[in-house]
Amino acid sequence: MIVTNYLIIGSGVAGLTFAIKIADRFPDKKVTIITKSTVDESNTKYAQGGIAIVTDEVQDSYQKHIDDTLICGDGLCDVDVVEMVVTEGPKRLKELMDWGAKFDKNSKGNFDLGKEGGHSENRVVHHKDQTGYEIERAILEQVYQKENITVLDHHFALDLITENKCCIGAVALNQKTNQIITFQSDYTLLATGGIGHLYGHTTNPIIATADGIAMAYRANAAIKDMEFIQFHPTALYENTIGSKFLISEAVRGFGAYLRTKNGNRFMLDYDARGELASRDIVSQSIDLELKKSAEECVYLDCTHLDLQAFIKHFPMIYERCKNNGIDIAKDWIPVIPAQHYLCGGIVVNKNGKTDVENLFACGECSRTGLHGANRLASNSLLEALVYSDKIYHYLAQNSSENKIANNVKSEFKIELKPSVNSEYLTNLKSELQLLMRQSAGIVRFDADLFKAQEKLIKWQEELKIKVENNQISTELFELYNMTTVANLIVQQSIERKENRGGFVKYDYSYNN
Ligand code: FAD
Ligand code: SIN
Repeated sequence: MIVTNYLIIGSGVAGLTFAIKIADRFPDKKVTIITKSTVDESNTKYAQGGIAIVTDEVQDSYQKHIDDTLICGDGLCDVDVVEMVVTEGPKRLKELMDWGAKFDKNSKGNFDLGKEGGHSENRVVHHKDQTGYEIERAILEQVYQKENITVLDHHFALDLITENKCCIGAVALNQKTNQIITFQSDYTLLATGGIGHLYGHTTNPIIATADGIAMAYRANAAIKDMEFIQFHPTALYENTIGSKFLISEAVRGFGAYLRTKNGNRFMLDYDARGELASRDIVSQSIDLELKKSAEECVYLDCTHLDLQAFIKHFPMIYERCKNNGIDIAKDWIPVIPAQHYLCGGIVVNKNGKTDVENLFACGECSRTGLHGANRLASNSLLEALVYSDKIYHYLAQNSSENKIANNVKSEFKIELKPSVNSEYLTNLKSELQLLMRQSAGIVRFDADLFKAQEKLIKWQEELKIKVENNQISTELFELYNMTTVANLIVQQSIERKENRGGFVKYDYSYNN
């Protein structure tokens, strides 16, 4: 058994920034980070466009950023939360820079601000098209300098341990030794990120399997807004299943056009903001165009843009296109919408507390009320930075002294049985992903959702038996978590009786 004061599950921006602060504040307390892959593998690492922050107070203002967030969230944002997150942005940016993260500046020494869909001003602070990589690099360096932080990679959290609706730790699988380990903690933070692989077609890396939300749900935490799945309009079209390479929205902010195969610049038919309408509108419009034309993809036209400036701002995108045989100076980039982000998740208050005692959630797995029915581009890194700071401040004031030493529990003894046939798991995962794409995609129908629900309940029961029989493996548990969370998405999609933001059911009026 490992006993720790602060247990952090996940090593993206949410988990790591909280770890740095709490470790600094309490050098005598133990901070333990567990993460299921290599330490840097996370959605954070792949973030491209940047962080939405008001840094130019002449042209821009907090109020404009607040208004853009509220418009995008289509009436479902929590206004207090939006105000809090937006106004704290500059402080959190300074902190990242103090930790060594570098952001692009223009010739005048000001931030080189990008623009993305739904933003009325240029306000996206970035590091070329590799903002997340740069942030993850800088914060990991900080983490490694703290003597009271232990990082355990390849440790897959299976479940939370709770007593009387209070979280006292978690059980994890050491993926290298195949041993079950009990962690006992005073405070536990879920920072497990997104859900992309429920859909297969996703911009998320393979680790995004909704584990934290499933664990919180099993611990009876409230889970909300799961119907609001964000589909990014422009993932690179390749005829394969699995993670998709993102073509950042900042490329449209830089002036790229969306066209159908025959050259029609269709976005102006749907929204006066054209290519820079919010993400929900662009993805829904592409979906309609593809249904009309029966084509596989639409195209992003960059041929009219300044090539050298493009390469300077988007070197990774340029290289990836080149490797795929696409010369962006001459060719249009084939793109399709793909699952990208979950707006809902584990319900937390303004201190990041869930309704399970001593359990906190931060980042993409949490539901703060910032995003409402649709997240404004580049507000996600910002949300994680602001909330990890809120949780830190709350615990800096409210952590009890020597709690764990007085109350050590006994270890979980689980005798692992031989794991489940991997062909069965692979096939079931593909079936699940197809079901989610067909029934809970950009547009939905109640009839499909009800049919999906029947299947999901059956699969969940099948998998639960295997889990309870201790045939535990990462693959089995991920699939168990994925079906659990898919079921929540489907259930909450059935419950929503209106179209809002990123949520469209054809059963209700749809004007496009
Ligand atoms: P993550 O960074 O995903 O970290 C989750 C961590 O939890 C990982 O380390 C994972 O391995 C670990 N984990 C998960 N399950 C378990 C388990 N069972 N046991 C142990 N560990 C576990 N947002 C923006 O604001 N701006 C952008 O420009 C932007 N671009 C993006 C581009 C791409 C391609 C993608 C995929 C996302 C982008 N986003 C962007 C969204 C943003 O990157 C994420 O929402 C954010 O980084 C999430 O941070 P996080 O710390 O919550 O989760
Ligand atoms: C992008 O660069 O298009 C992603 C931005 C985001 O998801 O916020």
